[in-house]
Amino acid sequence: MHTLPQTFCDTITHLHSHKGQKWLTDFPQLIRYCEERWHITIHSHFPLSYHFVAPARKADGSELVVKLFVEPSKLLHEQEALTALAGENTVKVVDTDAEKGVLLLEKLSPGRSLSSLSTKDEAALIAARLMKSLWRVPHSDSTIETAVKREKQLREYTQMYPSGIDFLSSETLQHALSVFSELNRTSQQLFLLHGDLHHDNILQSGEAWKIIDPKGLIGEKEYEIIPFLLNHLPKTNVAETIDHRINIFVQELNVSKKRILLWGYAHSVLATCWLIEDEDRQDTASFSRAIEAFQHLFEYYYGHKK
Ligand SMILES: Nc1ncnc2c1ncn2[C@@H]1O[C@H](COP(=O)(O)OP(=O)(O)O)[C@@H](O)[C@H]1O
Ligand SMILES: [Mg+2]
Repeated sequence: MHTLPQTFCDTITHLHSHKGQKWLTDFPQLIRYCEERWHITIHSHFPLSYHFVAPARKADGSELVVKLFVEPSKLLHEQEALTALAGENTVKVVDTDAEKGVLLLEKLSPGRSLSSLSTKDEAALIAARLMKSLWRVPHSDSTIETAVKREKQLREYTQMYPSGIDFLSSETLQHALSVFSELNRTSQQLFLLHGDLHHDNILQSGEAWKIIDPKGLIGEKEYEIIPFLLNHLPKTNVAETIDHRINIFVQELNVSKKRILLWGYAHSVLATCWLIEDEDRQDTASFSRAIEAFQHLFEYYYGHKK
């Protein structure tokens, strides 16, 4: 019997309304379906955010991970990204059932995430090295999301909220949009990126580290660094922390500090809109501090002009 945490149930109903409620009601049957179809026993889940994710064991003792999606389209995106990014540093797909929203993955062991590392510089260094091995030229027929589509999303928010939204003023929204447009307009080479490469989506596998949970994004290398910069930020000395992390990435990768700061600013504003829309209040204060920090660092290093 799998009991789901109330916060997870609330997230599912908030994000998927009736469909989410039905999914929660049918959840015990879905678990039974998976166990019967793949001859597995599903164990207690990992800490949950947007999806049900749990380790499972086959009759022969081998282990895997089950990830369940309310929206089959999200599963297809993750599957496409995992296939496009397949390699020795990417978690392997074992099987999928798109109709039922089930993704079976290789289980990574010990499976601790980069968040568990006590040396913060080491975490950034590992992430940077993983990025280097991951990035590749995208296929022309790819349906993976692009940075241009993200800009379009931000434009829609500015139109939907002409007087601003929450603590984001209309000036901030407009400014972020103009930065986003300028970055897309001046982008040089585009790469297939993970799209959400923060500490918790990098897990230890044996002696190595592997990526899980790619969103997939076609954009500049500099964009890939932003989710990592935004994650696990302190409440004070935010600009110093971000700057320190950026310097590690700049040293390890052939990337521009200026463009990281600009992507950081533009993306943080967009990501704040997502959080506000999802009524996910947990991270908004931290994102607000990060927006300020990106602005401050840009002014400090490159003057007032964006
Ligand atoms: N293949 C895996 N091996 C081991 N643990 C995993 C694996 N996939 C996910 N996990 C665990 O489950 C958590 C949530 O999985 P994730 O795919 O990131 O879900 P979400 O899309 O909700 O963020 C991860 O942070 C990790 O702790
Ligand atoms: Mg994740």
